[in-house]
Parts: sequence; structure tokens; C-alpha cells
Amino acid sequence: MARCCKLLTGFLLWALLMLSWCEASRSRVDIYDHSNGRLKSDSIIKRRDDITHLKSFMRASSRPPATVSVSDFGARGDGKTDDTQAFVNAWKKACSSNGAVNLLVPKEKTYLLKSIRLTGPCKSILTVQIFGTLSASQKRSDYKDPSKWITFDGVNSLSVDGGTSGTVEGNGETWWQNSCKRSNAKSCSSKAPTALTFYNSNNLRVNNLRVRNAQQIQISIEKCSNVQVSNVVVTAPADSPNTDGIHITNTRNIQVSKSIIGTGDDCISIESGSQNVRINDLTCGPGHGISIGSLGDDNSKAFVSGVIVDGARLSGTDNGVRIKTYQGGSGTASNIVFQNIQMENVKNPIIIDQDYCDKSKCTEQKSAVQVKNVVYRNIRGTSASDMAITFNCSKNYPCQGLVLDKVNIKGGEASCSNANVMDKGAVLPQCKST
Ligand SMILES: *[C@@H]1O[C@H](CO)[C@@H](O)[C@H](O)[C@H]1NC(C)=O
Repeated sequence: MARCCKLLTGFLLWALLMLSWCEASRSRVDIYDHSNGRLKSDSIIKRRDDITHLKSFMRASSRPPATVSVSDFGARGDGKTDDTQAFVNAWKKACSSNGAVNLLVPKEKTYLLKSIRLTGPCKSILTVQIFGTLSASQKRSDYKDPSKWITFDGVNSLSVDGGTSGTVEGNGETWWQNSCKRSNAKSCSSKAPTALTFYNSNNLRVNNLRVRNAQQIQISIEKCSNVQVSNVVVTAPADSPNTDGIHITNTRNIQVSKSIIGTGDDCISIESGSQNVRINDLTCGPGHGISIGSLGDDNSKAFVSGVIVDGARLSGTDNGVRIKTYQGGSGTASNIVFQNIQMENVKNPIIIDQDYCDKSKCTEQKSAVQVKNVVYRNIRGTSASDMAITFNCSKNYPCQGLVLDKVNIKGGEASCSNANVMDKGAVLPQCKST
């Protein structure tokens, strides 16, 4: 009898434990899930999220993350002292520790940084909490690599969280003044740094961050996979040269959501080697709009596939949704959907330009990047020019499988050459057949 009771009590205790474990893990999932919205249907992203939830649960259940603060390594945060070495030292400590680690950049302080490269692989599972401001040095000689300011290189399972006030400030004015796009007297070959580069990372998250006034590209995601960017606000003046908001290249499985980008160049640019790119709830303007390309530069082979832009507002931008390729390239840009997009006062709301050129001379060539299977669905708004839709496709490789479905752009015409276009639903304006 006593033995039986002991067994029963043991079983009940075990059951209670399991129950509370399940409850705890479920509430964690609830907490983390709200950022996903309609994207939960995407199986790859969902599976990845499940794994991340499991990981964060396991993290939480083992022990709370250790915090390594840059201020413990001598960073002053007065906006004047060079804090680069302190950051490097704090990074070394955080990266080489075991378990979950928060690398903290305290709020209400400004850390002046030269170019800095934070490399993995790390032993820890790192969250970089940029709660204060990172401010870029304006001296050219402070950049070992003149094309990069802050680089995260080869760090897997990295999270960057800006909290409520974290800011990356590029102080780009000095570089903009020296751009040939601002002044004809300046050389076009002088480089300017990308503010924030993520290179060669698997499982990357960037949340709640403000990035502004980059010297050139603001955020660049290169050669990464399984990436979530959300709640970022990226800003620079409309006339700041080459300050693309988010630049995506050679990257697979990336989702950018709930973000606001106003800048001097592309809002988001998607370059060769990118696959399965999802963009939701994006606000753009000013700037050059959402761009796939430029592809096929210098006769190169380019591949981009599986891009979905679902839910975007653009206002006062040069382009709305654009695919641009150089003459002489090869490869394909395929399986692309632009849908549920509102445009106001956009110069080229819908454009495919296979004659793109930003160099002194580009000559007509036979080969081209093949553009195929592009859907434009539920796109509304106004054009700021006399063009609403431009499909200027290659003579030798006409665009294939373009679908216009419920498109209504007021104040412009449609010009379509070498394009195989199917209209579904009501479409305004319609292509003049050429
Ligand atoms: C379209 O592309 C052709 C080259 O294929 C070029 O000659 C022409 O100027 C382009 N038209 C526009 C409107 O850009």
C-alpha cells in the first residue's frame, strides 16, 4: 500500500512537471510568435521559427544569458573617445564564452567607432544589444577596409536587437560630398563604407534597429541564410548617394518585415544569388524604390528567384517595383510576385529595364538576363510621370510570363516592348502593343 502511494505520488508529480513544462514552452512561443503574422504559412520560415523557439526555450531553461557590456572593457560612450578597441575586446569575450550571451551596448551613450570587423564562429549564442548609439568616425584613415564600417563575419545564430533606442549613425555627409554623383569634379572610383554588413551568417535576426546616414549602403546582407529582419527604421536624405536601405546579395531564405526606409537610393535592393526573399509590411520613401538588380553587370551571370513583396507602401520614390539588368549579362530573374502595393507619386511605378546603365557608356549587346514569371497583383496608386508601366525587355530574350492582375495606376501610360504580358482582372493602364 505504502509503495503504491509512493508510486502514485511520484507519477502525479511527474505529470504536474510535464504540464508546467508544456505551459511554459507554449507561453514562450506566444511571446515570440506575434512578429510573424501571415508569414506563418511559409513552411520553411515556420520550421525555422519552431527550431528557434525550441532553442530559445532551451536557452531559457538552462540559465539566463550572461551579459558582457562594452563598458566593462573600457568603452567610454562619450561620442568623442575612440571605443573601437573596447568593442573588439568585449566581442572576443562574448564570442568565446559558453551558452547564451548578451553583448550589451548601453543606452543613452554614443560610442565612436572606426571600422570594425567582428568575426565568428563563436562558441556562444550571441545577442548583440545595441541600445545606445554607434557613431562612425569621419576620418577616411580610420577605415582599414575603405568599403566597410561595421562587419559581422561568419557568426551563426546571431541576433542583433536595438531595443527602444538603438541607433547606428553613419555620419555619411563627408562621404556624400566626395561622391561623383554629388559633384562632377570628384572621382567615381573612391569608395565609401557600408554602414552595417552581415556576411556569411546562418540564422540571423536583426530587430528594432535604427540605421541612418550611412556613408554608402546602410545594411548589407551578403552570403547569409535563414534571416529575419524586422522593425528596422532606415533613414538618410533623398540626395545622399548610393545609400541603399537594405541590400541583399547571395542570400537564401530571408524575410524583411515591418520596416520603414527613406533614403537616397534603393529602399531594398536584391542582387544576384538571392533566393526565397520575402518582404512584408514595408514603407518606402524617399528613395529609388524596391529593386531587383542591377543584374548582369560586366557580362556576368546572375540568378535571382523566389521573391515575394507582399504589402508595401511607397511614396515619392523614383521607382516603385523595378527589375533592372545590364545588357550583355546572362542567367535568370524568375518567380517574382509583387502584390498588395500602394504607390503615391512614384515616377516609375512598375518597371522592367533591361537596358539599365549607370556607367559612362553601355552598348547594345545580344545576351541578356532572362526575366520570367513575374506577377503584379493588386497594385494601386498614382504615377508622378507620364509612365505608369514600363516593360523594356531584351530583343533577344523577351520577358516571359508577366502577369498584371488588378493593377490601377493613375496618371501614366504603359509602354511594353519585347514583353509577353497577360492581363487578369482590371488593369489600368494597358500595354499598347508594340
Ligand atoms: C529600351 O531598350 C532599348 C535597348 O534594348 C534602348 O535602345 C531604348 O532606349 C530603351 N527604351 C527606353 C524607353 O528606355
